[in-house]
Amino acid sequence: MQNIIITGGTGYIGSHTAVALQESGFKVVVFDNLSNSTTDSLYGIERITGTRPEFVQIDCTDLSALRDAFSRHSDAVGVIHFAALKAVGESVQRPLLYYRNNLVGLMNVLLCMTEFEIPSIVFSSSATVYGVPETLPVTEDTPLQPATSPYGQTKVIGETIVRDCVAANPKMRATLLRYFNPIGAHPSGFIGENPSGIPNNLMPYITQTAAGIRPILRVFGNDYDTPDGFCIRDYIDVNDLAAAHVAALNNMLSGTDGVSTFNLGTGRGYSVMELIDAFRDATGVSVPYEIVARRDGDVPAIWADATSAAKVLNWRAKVPLSNTLQSAWRWQINSGEKKS
Ligand code: NAD
Ligand code: WQD
Repeated sequence: MQNIIITGGTGYIGSHTAVALQESGFKVVVFDNLSNSTTDSLYGIERITGTRPEFVQIDCTDLSALRDAFSRHSDAVGVIHFAALKAVGESVQRPLLYYRNNLVGLMNVLLCMTEFEIPSIVFSSSATVYGVPETLPVTEDTPLQPATSPYGQTKVIGETIVRDCVAANPKMRATLLRYFNPIGAHPSGFIGENPSGIPNNLMPYITQTAAGIRPILRVFGNDYDTPDGFCIRDYIDVNDLAAAHVAALNNMLSGTDGVSTFNLGTGRGYSVMELIDAFRDATGVSVPYEIVARRDGDVPAIWADATSAAKVLNWRAKVPLSNTLQSAWRWQINSGEKKS
């Protein structure tokens, strides 16, 4: 069995990817400092797959501890590096925290991979690297824009760091995955997104409002230059995203060298209002909302051209939006039950 190290593996996307990897026959070791997750997700992974991944509580910014952990898992054939802080607004308030956590963490992981000769890395990038795109949909060749937040900068710079390391080391290979808007949960309801405090993102805000935890959803702006005036995003099911990581890893393990970059989206954009309506249609629950002013920094519209991932990785988003919204709702209900 081939071993894979997943940093940030108790988090939202990492836990779903751990399930997908275990179901594809990999052995998973999770490295996480639990700054934005708990070990509950390991229990969820075990309930789904029958196997609890090995867990190492570790901070990727602590090089000596990381080196020690890598030395004990130097048989790993690849690393999926999810570990990062991701709150855009907080990154504006605390830029050094974000640059240090996201970039020092990444550099330490790359250093350990070099020292222990682990060749393959998947790096979590983001559609945020495209800024406000001039043409839609965006392909991987769409020019990157200077990011509007320190968080976004950590993805732009992170991609560059990974590229430079691969250029300098012919034994190393990398896949940069640019996620659009990940939503939903595992259909079992055993793992899902667990935002601490007031959610920044639309989907958990919708489910928490539907559950009565938040009184009303604030919809940011209805005067955009889009068909219905609301912002458009490409919402991708987290299980589809997880499957793409397995495909990316297999592509490198089967010998693809250098750096590959893929957009991970559905190729279809939905406006905020279309998503609210789709949630009601899928779950039968209407979410109270009010339209308020635009949120600073929001991109009016973005969706992916994901044909490269289809051609090279044979990967496509498959889960219908209604199933994704139902899984998000199921997870919300389950996590409410756990708390009460
Ligand atoms: P998450 O917060 O649920 O998971 C990240 C995990 O990393 C958490 O468990 C956290 O405890 C851990 N972590 C953070 N800093 C660490 C450190 N220094 N050492 C060890 N562990 C650390 O977030 P997620 O949504 O699963 O995101 C995973 C990755 O995908 C991140 O790199 C994020 O930037 C990227 N991404 C997320 C989205 C999104 O909307 N969720 C979109 C694009 C890209
Ligand atoms: C989606 C749409 C909002 C909340 C962010 C990061 C990006 C990536 C994913 C990590 C927008 C609207 C939202 C609310 C609303 N993360 N909205 N009311 O902004 O596309 O992307 O998360 O890489 O980097 O910037 O996602 O879910 O915050 O917003 O009306 O309470 O929902 O204006 O149009 P976004 P989001």
